[in-house]
Amino acid sequence: MAKERIRIGIMGLGVVGSGVARILMEKADRIQAHIETPVELVRVLVRDPQKKRDFQVPGHLLTTSSRDILDDPDIDIVIEVMGGEIPAYKYIEGAIQSGKHVITANKEVMAKYGPELLTLAHQRGVDILYEASVGGGIPLIGPFQHDLAANKIISIQAIINGTTNYILTRMASEGAEFGAALAEAQALGYAEADPTNDIEGIDAVYKLAVLATLAFHLPVRPADIYREGISRLTSRDFRYARELGYAIKLLAIAKEENGMVEARVHPSLVPQGFLLAQIGGVNNAVCVQGDLVGTVVFYGPGAGSKPTSSAIVADLILLAKNITAGLTGRFRLREESGKTISPMDQVQTRYYLRMSVADHPGVLAQIATVLGEHQISIASVIQKEADPVSQTAEIVIMTHLAREADMQDSLAKIRALPPVVQERCFFLRAEG
Ligand code: NAP
Ligand code: HSE
Repeated sequence: MAKERIRIGIMGLGVVGSGVARILMEKADRIQAHIETPVELVRVLVRDPQKKRDFQVPGHLLTTSSRDILDDPDIDIVIEVMGGEIPAYKYIEGAIQSGKHVITANKEVMAKYGPELLTLAHQRGVDILYEASVGGGIPLIGPFQHDLAANKIISIQAIINGTTNYILTRMASEGAEFGAALAEAQALGYAEADPTNDIEGIDAVYKLAVLATLAFHLPVRPADIYREGISRLTSRDFRYARELGYAIKLLAIAKEENGMVEARVHPSLVPQGFLLAQIGGVNNAVCVQGDLVGTVVFYGPGAGSKPTSSAIVADLILLAKNITAGLTGRFRLREESGKTISPMDQVQTRYYLRMSVADHPGVLAQIATVLGEHQISIASVIQKEADPVSQTAEIVIMTHLAREADMQDSLAKIRALPPVVQERCFFLRAEG
């Protein structure tokens, strides 16, 4: 029997929840123009009902009890925008168990439990939609589920954390201090509740897990993804990278070759001419290579209240249409057997090495010997200014393609060489 009204409960009224509630109330006509059945916001879960918010919803809608949403048989759709793993995961699972559809922006929950939640939703005949969990306002989940479905995906190379891209852009272009740039990103509502998740690449790992699971048809969990954040970068690295013709970006990379899927998140040198090097501010960009389509790029604002709410409300419109048409619970995560995650030490990239060494003859030859013994070929070397007081010089080396295991072994040996200042021996990987 057709529903008279689709009722919605929102869990969370922060940066994203407030944006969604505002659109539901202020742009109801625009939403309704897409859907035959009227939608109505009936309940909003918060921790503190007295808190002053960007958008105030009528007080009678607020509750501090999740049961008021999960146990209300009249609520059809739960929009989870609280964030964090627990209790969000439990609430999402509980909503699905009670036959409710779920829309979530929660990349942590989808990265850790996505395959199980999607299976449960399929079994219960409901949908879980999560377009907002990756890339803020950029359509990504839909394209992987539908538009690119005919392709074998070869690679994903992406900037998928707006906060770190904002910080790196400010540091590279204006020489901003790390702390000041982070504070700006937080004030603009881009950062996670704990910004460590952004800075240390954890947020990007969650998002890559979600995308790689869809793209390569095997569950890719956060623990499968190698991770480094941006906190070790110094202004010298931005300067040297620019001189060498590179930008520095936090990249999320996943590739499949012969059933082996490699997945990693770390700062990378990206050639200035590459599109990803040009992506500034909070914007995200995801380059996807498919065997049929070639390379497609998804670009746009990857965080913030309005872009993220745009993705959630789009999910809501799709879901409401499907509910009206009686077409829910159809999505199934497709898994292909015989695929495995390849270990990080097998990955091949180019490398940028920066090290302080005693300014003596023969030091460079010692370093080159170690690299040569590990089959690592040097592409270029620059010696930066020597310090006459400490009698040290700074050397920057770019290598050709090398295996991660070989580079890690070489670095351990180079750091142990007496002329090398151990704590000032640093490396970055380079793409392209
Ligand atoms: P936020 O500003 O910190 O808001 C979280 C909201 O959830 C707050 O209203 C809070 O209530 C409520 N909440 C948290 N834990 C709760 C609990 N245990 N019980 C009841 N209410 C609880 O977070 P946000 O930035 O909107 O992010 C929400 C989600 O969207 C996260 O999963 C995030 O990763 C994702 N996301 C965010 C962005 C972005 O740009 N911010 C973009 C894409 C995706 P009180 O207000 O009462 O404390
Ligand atoms: N903290 C996240 C970011 C929010 O900066 O990209 C969007 O997921």
